Amino acid sequence: MEYRPDANGEEVDRWKEVTLVYNSALKEVGTKLEILNDEFQHVHQYNPIEHIKSRLKSPESIVQKLRSKGYESTIENMVEYVNDIAGVRVICSFTSDIYRIAEMITEQNDLTVLSVKDYFQNPKESGYKSYHLLVTVPVFLSNRVVDVKVEIQIRTVAMDFWASLEHKIRYKYAGNAPEHIRKALVRCASMVSNLDDEMLALNREIQRLEEEEKRDKNKD
Ligand code: GTP
Ligand code: MG
Repeated sequence: MEYRPDANGEEVDRWKEVTLVYNSALKEVGTKLEILNDEFQHVHQYNPIEHIKSRLKSPESIVQKLRSKGYESTIENMVEYVNDIAGVRVICSFTSDIYRIAEMITEQNDLTVLSVKDYFQNPKESGYKSYHLLVTVPVFLSNRVVDVKVEIQIRTVAMDFWASLEHKIRYKYAGNAPEHIRKALVRCASMVSNLDDEMLALNREIQRLEEEEKRDKNKD
């Protein structure tokens, strides 16, 4: 059942309920990801997830987003139209981890994937590269189970570094950064992309060498 905020009651209580429900959804997804990471480590002796960041969107940002989309600031509208109230960012080392993690998430039976945006294959004009999944996760309340939307962004450490600076600059200039800064950011994004490719190639080479060494040892 899709989450709908309680239609009755004081506005403050309704707001508190929404916060509690989205916060619970964040915890659920965070725990799931940690379990998947631990299991992966157990099976493959390797952690695909470097770290996880999660956040609830601030009331100011929620109101701003509703306004930009032309909706009135109501609790109903925020639940219906703001998809990233609960946001989880999964940071990994190598680009190959991105799809590995996305697949593990997609295969979770109790998660429903509502949409996928692959800005890794199709980067934004800004140079932004990430893999976005909009999912719902069931949250078990005392008297009902509700499906709550969570936006999951998966990206590499290097791209996360780029995205936080780009975001800061975008915010500072309210989306109208000077041309030379925008160009520099696009250049940096391309360097990040090359760095990610080279690091992946290096890692693959090291893994291959390790496997060869293991094979040679077993021959002896
Ligand atoms: P928003 O209304 O901005 O959320 O866009 P959307 O609903 O079309 O979703 P989209 O997948 O484009 O972006 C969702 C989120 O991805 C944003 O809120 C940012 O956190 C992140 N993002 C998308 N594009 C960029 C970008 O060019 N730079 C940075 N730094 N982050 C981005
Ligand atoms: Mg957003």
